[in-house]
Amino acid sequence: MNKSIKIIDEVDGLQFIEIDNSLAVARVALQGGHVDWWRPKSAKQDVLWRSSNARYEKGRSIRGGVPICWPWFGKHPTDGSFCAHGFARVIPWKLLESVQLKNGATKIVLTMIPTEAVTKQLTYSFELILTIIVGESLYLNLETTNLSDSPFVISEGYHTYFYISDIKNIKVTGLENSTYTDKIDNFGSGIEKKSITFNNEFDRVYTNSNDCYIEDEKFNRVITIKKSNSNSTVVWTPWEEKALAMGDMGEKDEWRRMVCVETANLLENSVVIYPKMSHSIATEYSVQEL
Ligand code: BG6
Repeated sequence: MNKSIKIIDEVDGLQFIEIDNSLAVARVALQGGHVDWWRPKSAKQDVLWRSSNARYEKGRSIRGGVPICWPWFGKHPTDGSFCAHGFARVIPWKLLESVQLKNGATKIVLTMIPTEAVTKQLTYSFELILTIIVGESLYLNLETTNLSDSPFVISEGYHTYFYISDIKNIKVTGLENSTYTDKIDNFGSGIEKKSITFNNEFDRVYTNSNDCYIEDEKFNRVITIKKSNSNSTVVWTPWEEKALAMGDMGEKDEWRRMVCVETANLLENSVVIYPKMSHSIATEYSVQEL
């Protein structure tokens, strides 16, 4: 086993992979293939946000880090009884491989283990492989392969929670001139004219394949979100009332210190995967000074 990684059992029987190399520390829950922590050693502040009362329980998603949404994003298209954002984030994955890279980063490769209950929710068979590279940046690549004889359609995304100085201090750039669908405005659409600032609940899906940036003057930094094979970006903050109603968004004002900027493919950007073909969506996070 690679020396920079350690498998640990923690609360409620959940297993984690802990990574500690010369560049960064990270933790990945085997339930959900969920990076619930990553911090480059050079960073002055945390980069990912994780709720202080995140639930570490079998079958529940962890509030924070990088939840994987797959094979549907948001509500299931036809059956509201299926779990929101798909089942990939709440079922077990297993470690296939871990490699120490020459630049000091650690690569791990995971595959999802479909349970009997979730297999019943699908009409097709598939393989899902998640590659994570933990270093000065955090890189994720999710590859779906169609093992059936007919095409199928997925929507997907990295529902990442970023740590910020305060929701009122930041702006999200890179989405100017993109078309959006606004969940709060009854799925109305529009074109984003300028960089995004926040003073209320915000929940928009953008048709966009560009890289995005979270500019945070108080922290004197920008978080760069590189995207590959992703034609949607979701930007979300619940604001106070919804955050308090959710039960796992942390103490009173904790929600102010996070924003989700999600590399995704959904709505009209959902992906058709043909038999014996694969599709990958990748994203990479890094921090620069402003
Ligand atoms: C966002 C959705 O992506 O995820 C929101 O647009 C939703 O509507 C949020 O509330 C959180 O979802 P969940 O299932 O993790 O509570």
